[in-house]
Amino acid sequence: FLSITLAVEKYLEPFRLSLEKLKEVSVRLKKDLIRGLGKHSHHRAAVKMLPTFVRATPDGTEKGDYLALDLGGTNFRVLYVRVVEEQQKVVKMDSKICSIPQEMMLGTGEQLFDHIAQCLGEFLESQDLKGQTLPLGFTFSFPCEQKEIDKSILIRWTKGFSCSGVEGQDVVKLLKEAIHRRGDYDIGSVAMVNDTVGTMMSCGYRDQSCEIGMIIGTGTNACYMEEIKNVKRVEGEDGRMCINTEWGGFGDDGSLKDILTEFDEVVDQTSINPGVHTFEKMISGMYLGEIVRLLLVKMAEDKLLFKGETSEALLTPGQFETKYISEIEDGLENAQKILTALGLNWDPVDACVVRLVCDTISSRSARLCAAALATISNRIRVNRGLDHLKTTVGVDGTVYRKHPNFSEELQAAVRLLAPKCDITFLVSEDGSGKGAAMVTAVAQTTCILPPSQQGATNPAAKKKKSVRT
Ligand code: BGC
Repeated sequence: FLSITLAVEKYLEPFRLSLEKLKEVSVRLKKDLIRGLGKHSHHRAAVKMLPTFVRATPDGTEKGDYLALDLGGTNFRVLYVRVVEEQQKVVKMDSKICSIPQEMMLGTGEQLFDHIAQCLGEFLESQDLKGQTLPLGFTFSFPCEQKEIDKSILIRWTKGFSCSGVEGQDVVKLLKEAIHRRGDYDIGSVAMVNDTVGTMMSCGYRDQSCEIGMIIGTGTNACYMEEIKNVKRVEGEDGRMCINTEWGGFGDDGSLKDILTEFDEVVDQTSINPGVHTFEKMISGMYLGEIVRLLLVKMAEDKLLFKGETSEALLTPGQFETKYISEIEDGLENAQKILTALGLNWDPVDACVVRLVCDTISSRSARLCAAALATISNRIRVNRGLDHLKTTVGVDGTVYRKHPNFSEELQAAVRLLAPKCDITFLVSEDGSGKGAAMVTAVAQTTCILPPSQQGATNPAAKKKKSVRT
């Protein structure tokens, strides 16, 4: 077993990132954050640092009824939510899930938005809400250049989506056009939200020191509250604005070349968006399973696993799902079941090696996220001239939530990489849906929307006395 472990280590070594390396990665990201915020440098920046027009986290006085849409993975969700001030809670009244078939993810934008409008229409019908025009928060989890809270231009698709005619277009306009094509219902004011922002805002209602939102799911990304004076693209000197970092694009300019492995290159080249979202492809759920699969194939071909044999399933891209990584790391019996289901001729040593491979790949992901999160918290600390920062990060995403020790590994590494930051992690349940309602609620009371729209469609929304920024 020892000699096999040593041989296997040769394959895994490039995935093991030392603390020193992680510190280097963090320094590079720090430079990229500054580049992304710059007035003239942001066009070419790999990390886009997108202004979100969210200037305040919740202060606990928001209330009202809202619709929320959530598009970002394989499912699309519609929610009807109530923000209850007395309980400082966002309550989900009801919701509906509509799946987005693979063909639709690669079809036309018009088909996609018609599908969304249909799903929303059916939901409103079932809730008897068709006559009302409720304000709507739209969680759209792709990189968007936000012009206003209700004008958001898709920069590019990620995570397996590639619908034609949407990149470069205003997503709110496409949604409204699809609703008007039907003509059987209407919606009130719209607030566009990235899922990281929704996550931060939904945690922010409970914990008002929540100023970072992080997603580690199908894709990965984070947002945080930045000083407006540093956001050179937005006018103003006072206060803060939430910045959607789009850290998934870190490395797209070649800055992570030294840590990319040959397997990462293959994952990138065979993806539907080669050259794009380099950091995301080393971290997120859409890709982790595929990295493991490629490693297992290579090791089997080199006669280190499965007596040198593979199987049809193992040779098929996408067949080794990311959730298997969590299951295998959870117990060797799971590993054995999964290897059998994949048609592999395994022995007990194979099962242990496969588990080691999974552990190495998920650890790298957790540690890279830690380096990125450390960069952001350190930035907030330095921005505020603090020697020590106490802050909360709202987190969501299947990789973070479902993997048996991802969160512990990430937190341990952040403690080492950002020793002057004391970070509380708050898992957000349903953040991207409820958070969208929260953004809409805050928007209605903090002048994010044009005055004509503030509170207009939602009499329940209360005007704020003071704005916490
Ligand atoms: C998108 C981000 C999103 C993240 C997590 C990435 O692919 O570019 O906008 O926040 O996935 O869903």
